Amino acid sequence: MNNRKTVKDYIRTIVDFPHEGILFRDVTTLFADPRGFRMAVDQMLHPYAGQRIDKVVGLEARGFILGGAVAHQLGTGFVPIRKKGKLPGAVISEEYQLEYGEAVVEVHDDAIAPGETVLLVDDLLATGGTAEAGIKLVERLGGEIVGCAFVVDLPELGGRKRLEKMGMDVHALCDFEGL
Ligand code: PRP
Ligand code: MG
Repeated sequence: MNNRKTVKDYIRTIVDFPHEGILFRDVTTLFADPRGFRMAVDQMLHPYAGQRIDKVVGLEARGFILGGAVAHQLGTGFVPIRKKGKLPGAVISEEYQLEYGEAVVEVHDDAIAPGETVLLVDDLLATGGTAEAGIKLVERLGGEIVGCAFVVDLPELGGRKRLEKMGMDVHALCDFEGL
C-alpha cells in the first residue's frame, strides 16, 4: 500500500499559516520521509537526465535542500541564490515582489560562467516572483536555463504561466488547487 504513495501524498497541509485563510503546503513531511524524499529528487531531475547540465541553482531556503540532492545525483555543481546580505563575495542582485513589500536575492558574480547550462530548483511555485528573480540572475551571468523544477505548483497564482512567458520549461511534480 505504502509503495503506491505519490509525492503529493507526503505533503502536509497546515490551515491558516502564516495567516488566516492560507493553506500552507508543508514539504517538511516529504523531506523527512526517506522514500518520499528520494522519489521527489528522482522525479525532479528525470526530464533533464539526458541533457547537459553544468550547474544546479537552488533558491533559498527550501530550494537548497532539493537542489543539493539533485546536483549530487546529476553529478553537477550547486549554486545558491541567497537572500540579501548572506553571500561573502561580489554579488549581483534582483528585487522581487512579496505579498507585502519587496525582497532581494543575490548570487556570486562568478558562480556561473557564460554559456553554462543551468537547472533551477525550488520547492514551490506560487506567483513565480522568486523564480523570476532567480532566472534573471542566472541570465545576467550568461547562464542558459534548461529548465525550472519544483515539487509543488499552485496554478491559481499564475507562476507557471509567468515563467512559460519568459520561455522557460517548467516542471512540477504536483499541483494544489485552493490557496
Ligand atoms: C516560498 C517558496 C518559494 C516561494 C514561492 O519561499 O519556498 O521559494 O515562496 O513563491 P512565489 O512563487 O510567489 O515567489 P519563501 O519566500 O517563503 O522562503 P523560504 O523558502 O526561505 O522559506
Ligand atoms: Mg522559498
